[in-house]
Amino acid sequence: MTTKMQRNNNRVVLTAPLDGNPRPEDFKTISEPIPEPADGEMLIRHIYLSLDPYQRSMIAGRHGAVRPMGEGDMPNGEIVGQVAQSRHPSFAEGDYVRHFGGWQKYSVSDGTQTFPVDPEQAPLSAYVGVLGMPGLTAYASMIELAEVEAGQTVLVSAAHGPVGSMVGQIAMQQGATAIGMAGSDEKCQLVVNDLGFSACINYKNKRYPGSLEDALPNGADIYHDNVGGDMLAEALSVLKNYGTVILCGLISHYNDPSKAVGLNLTTVILKRAVLKGLVVYDFEDRRQNFFNMVAPWIKDGTVKYLEDRVDGLEHTGIQFARLMSGQNVGKALVVIGPESL
Ligand SMILES: NC(=O)c1ccc[n+]([C@@H]2O[C@H](COP(=O)([O-])OP(=O)(O)OC[C@H]3O[C@@H](n4cnc5c(N)ncnc54)[C@H](OP(=O)(O)O)[C@@H]3O)[C@@H](O)[C@H]2O)c1
Repeated sequence: MTTKMQRNNNRVVLTAPLDGNPRPEDFKTISEPIPEPADGEMLIRHIYLSLDPYQRSMIAGRHGAVRPMGEGDMPNGEIVGQVAQSRHPSFAEGDYVRHFGGWQKYSVSDGTQTFPVDPEQAPLSAYVGVLGMPGLTAYASMIELAEVEAGQTVLVSAAHGPVGSMVGQIAMQQGATAIGMAGSDEKCQLVVNDLGFSACINYKNKRYPGSLEDALPNGADIYHDNVGGDMLAEALSVLKNYGTVILCGLISHYNDPSKAVGLNLTTVILKRAVLKGLVVYDFEDRRQNFFNMVAPWIKDGTVKYLEDRVDGLEHTGIQFARLMSGQNVGKALVVIGPESL
């Protein structure tokens, strides 16, 4: 396998600190020698790079970063890859793994936070999508925090994305009804026709928010919020009294946190609403339970998912700009290399 390896490692770095919506020209690809694994380390060839909304906050220095990133800095990101060279006792060449390898073609790991993945149990890309962190987020929301029950109605924003699509489908598997919100007719059609939601409201068309009330004549028991801002306010208006809101994401603010709007607490009081904040890292010890529940549904096709792929590491900046302007349809991924050489 090492003989077929490319000689250079390409990395995607920032051309300048980000300001507002990311643009493709904010990123460039640089080339440097492939790192050599030392004793106890392994070299990993990246196959799929996960692009996630939190990476915008990380670049700005607001998410687990010590400072805002600037020119020449490479964002981190979770990848699925294959061990290309191993000097690690527990990993062999050819093993598939997921780890935080960053926006590049190769990375070296000492095994810390590097986990084996099995292509027989699920498609490799799913390990950073619906079976990875975003899927665990949906599981934490529906099973652990909202404790969704049969007969309830669940409303979720960004319903085509990896978190939203799994929130709705996990809820449906518990006997609940899933209603989505998404930003285009195309997205809404996929949410209903491919993912099986009962309805989906295109919040950008003129009928919104009237159509939200049409879709939820009796209101929602649970609202899972991926977006914040105006959509959170609108969703609250259709929440049943004593309903639950899972506060998961604020993507409408990530490019410009100064635009954050406050919640109308009068509505919260009048609805007697329960608001719960979700941080997925709190649920890492539940990852195996989540996997055991969801992986069979993925394998037998009970649960579906959408992916938005681009080919080639050099297109990472374009794909990230698409994700952060709402142009992705499904899980945003970069295909960096073939699944096997
Ligand atoms: N709390 C946690 O631990 C945790 C963990 C994972 C993810 N999250 C959050 O969950 C949310 C969903 O994540 P995901 O991975 O499933 O990604 P995603 O849904 O693919 O996120 C992108 C989508 O967000 C929607 N969106 C709404 N307003 C937007 C705006 N102003 N700018 C850009 N996009 C906008 C767009 O869909 P529409 O056009 O359909 O609106 C867009 O396609 C994100 O907010 C993320 O940060 C939180």
